[in-house]
Amino acid sequence: MLYEGKAKKVFATDQPELVRVYYKDDATAFNGQKRGQIEGKGAINNQMSNLLFQYLAEHGVPTHFVEQVSERETIVRKVDILPLEVVVRNVAAGSFSKRLGVLEGTVLPRPLVEFYYKNDELGDPLLTDDQALVLGLASQEDLAELRTRALEVNRLLQERFAACGLALIDFKIEFGRLPSGEIVLADEISPDTCRLWDKDTHQKLDKDRFRQDLGGVEDAYQEVWRRMKGGLSA
Ligand code: TMP
Ligand code: ASP
Repeated sequence: MLYEGKAKKVFATDQPELVRVYYKDDATAFNGQKRGQIEGKGAINNQMSNLLFQYLAEHGVPTHFVEQVSERETIVRKVDILPLEVVVRNVAAGSFSKRLGVLEGTVLPRPLVEFYYKNDELGDPLLTDDQALVLGLASQEDLAELRTRALEVNRLLQERFAACGLALIDFKIEFGRLPSGEIVLADEISPDTCRLWDKDTHQKLDKDRFRQDLGGVEDAYQEVWRRMKGGLSA
């Protein structure tokens, strides 16, 4: 094992440029202060993330995905994860609503891109572009590329989720750098990392059910995966 995170483990393979990711059922919130298990989450997040990474790749977004090897395991290209979490928001929720006093559910006039410093000790603070540059976390070119890619991912994901009757409220993505220097989409895209609401009822179908103790956590993950697998069925 090379690394164990809050939701995944990463293992070496016999090829130095590839690693194997194992998705756990462990769930944390508020920078690890709240801990629990979401039964079946690892299998859903792995398969859903792979489905979406393949969809994004087909639409011109390069990703780390190589091959799913089991319900919970995937081979991905080994990358150096950039120390920035990129959040895109379409509708006010979560920390945006709380910090800025905007009612949850308020539709934003355009998608908003935010960068956070990926640093658990500091609690992943929000970063301005200038702070990212001064800290040497990314170059101006990198930031511009991440912003463009994130907005493209947002457009594609919104379309894909809308086809399943889901509104994409916001999401967090991470990028990694290949040995060639190329930046690719990495980590995962799942109900852990996206806010997804039923488009008609606005029922929350994501990790906010765990974060906010809303109950029905497992059912929400299963419902999202059922709709995704079914393609157009809502
Ligand atoms: P936030 O509103 O708490 O800033 O979260 C924005 C989005 O990022 C939301 O879809 C949940 C996701 N997210 C993560 O994937 N990991 C995290 O550690 C946090 C705080 C948020
Ligand atoms: N990743 C967060 C944590 O550090 C949880 C969250 O998604 O809110 O526990």
